[in-house]
Amino acid sequence: MRLEIITIFPDYFAPLTLSLIGKAHDDGLIDIAVRDLRDYTHDRHRTTDDTPYGGGAGMVMKPEPWGEALDAVLDAVPPAQSPPTLIVPTPAGEPFRQAIADEMAGLGHLVFACGRYEGIDARVAQWAATRMPVRELSLGDYVLNGGEVAALAMIEAIVRLVPGVLGNPESLVEESHTADGLLEYPVYTKPPTWRGLDVPEVLLSGHHGRVAQWRRAQSEALTAARRPDLMP
Ligand code: 6GU
Repeated sequence: MRLEIITIFPDYFAPLTLSLIGKAHDDGLIDIAVRDLRDYTHDRHRTTDDTPYGGGAGMVMKPEPWGEALDAVLDAVPPAQSPPTLIVPTPAGEPFRQAIADEMAGLGHLVFACGRYEGIDARVAQWAATRMPVRELSLGDYVLNGGEVAALAMIEAIVRLVPGVLGNPESLVEESHTADGLLEYPVYTKPPTWRGLDVPEVLLSGHHGRVAQWRRAQSEALTAARRPDLMP
């Protein structure tokens, strides 16, 4: 999988060389390129933002540097290859969910357009959609200063689903927000008693049927309490 990130803060993406994603990179499973949006400006101040038409608070990212950066991405795609999918992290996007992570993990080339300020001139996504699939995606109902942290979160959720990245694909099937759509049950390891707290007896029983039943009940109780919206 090829991942490209366009940002005015390339340093945000240093963590991608760490941990799981760093290993996937070292193993040749993913190839990451970070482009500095300011490299596609032409004025002395390398300006990427301007005041909004119609007035209002904050600044809007200018379309021209984005157009040139996206042209550079597209120009580097071999002619026989499908265009990349453009992901635009924005609090006004469609909610990013596990099903979208699954879908994105099956694609060969993703480009993240990280906006700052009040967002990117709307014509950028409109133009991009004439050249490649565009997904405007939100992490949730809260506001971040820009798309960078959101892109990091989405990249982690997507890359761990790429075949070969996780050591143990079993752990992909069992986790929450997958198979049954319920929250994960609580988990325990040794010692059996810690600071006066015991591991639930059923988990030490060796009865696989009772263990499965207990976990299911725990998942349902947790989901009902914390995420009633997920209840079947
Ligand atoms: Cl994807 N971007 C920004 N700027 N804020 C967010 C978000 C994304 N998701 C939740 N808040």
